[in-house]
Amino acid sequence: MHPDPDHSQQLPDRNLALELVRVTEAAALATAPLVGSGEKEAADQAAVDGMRYMLQSIQMDGVVVIGEGEKDEAPMLYNGEHIGDGSPPEVDIAVDPLEGTTLAAHGMPSALAVIALSARGTMFDPGPCVYMEKMAGAPPIADLLDLDRPLGETVKLIAERKGHPVSDVMVVVLDRPRHEQGIAAIRAAGARVRLIPHGDVSATLLAVTERSPVDLLWGIGGTPEGVISAAAVKCLGGQLLGRLWPRDDAERTAAREAGYELERVLDRDDLVAGNDVFFSATGVTDGDVLQGVRYPSAGGATTESLVTRSRSGTIRRIMATHDRAKLRAIGGERY
Ligand code: FBP
Repeated sequence: MHPDPDHSQQLPDRNLALELVRVTEAAALATAPLVGSGEKEAADQAAVDGMRYMLQSIQMDGVVVIGEGEKDEAPMLYNGEHIGDGSPPEVDIAVDPLEGTTLAAHGMPSALAVIALSARGTMFDPGPCVYMEKMAGAPPIADLLDLDRPLGETVKLIAERKGHPVSDVMVVVLDRPRHEQGIAAIRAAGARVRLIPHGDVSATLLAVTERSPVDLLWGIGGTPEGVISAAAVKCLGGQLLGRLWPRDDAERTAAREAGYELERVLDRDDLVAGNDVFFSATGVTDGDVLQGVRYPSAGGATTESLVTRSRSGTIRRIMATHDRAKLRAIGGERY
């Protein structure tokens, strides 16, 4: 008998995330030799180069919406750059070849290589806004997120929802002077704070993962990282809220003149509106979410990646073993 007599099922289509994993693996492998080198620009450049090299292999008509900056400053993966062979699908691309440049350069945990893709015109363009206030959490507390409610009240609501004392609640926050008041409010409510030096994409992945050591992400971090995190949240589940946070009057004026509503709270669907979002992250250094690049033998390397697609909701963890000599023969010294 025909398994689908009314033909209501769709044929499985191409899952771009399975191609993107090679892209983030290439970025991670290319930057790994510079982990701990103290050279953050060189580490970033190696990741960009590795990512750009592998991106050429993907058949798509892509435009970089979140990239390495403006064309004159970034020779590769600049905002507006067209990537791919021009064949469908038409997509927006967000990249962070090395999220946590300082983490990688200092050999510290949780540096990642990340990329997200969604249909053309669906990704939020941050324009002149460098920073955004963000809050993210897993599905069971997604409806409790609120950037206007005092933080102390929110952590108490989270504790109540989880049926735990508030002292069990852990909030991950970038360690910055601008967060002093927020951190004090969380602590005054009785909750705990995990301070991180960098890397709020990795921290968001942790916050939206159920049964992780972290319940909530809060704080002001990069807007590009906010868009990439929103893509991940759409695939993994949970919620991310963001509100643009201009650093000074000049940025405020530039944003208003460009038509941005600074008071507006954007959710994950405002930041990435598409319903078919692809996300891949590969660990560069070891972290809570992903293992970093390791060299188990002189010529070998291993990577761990998180690969997801919003439409199907499939979350894959891909452990890969690489033969660096063979990769060098194909792709040159970047490996
Ligand atoms: P880089 O990889 O560009 O160094 O960014 C790391 C990061 O910590 C992000 O995760 C975060 O969103 C942003 O920088 C915070 O910015 P700042 O260090 O200026 O507070």
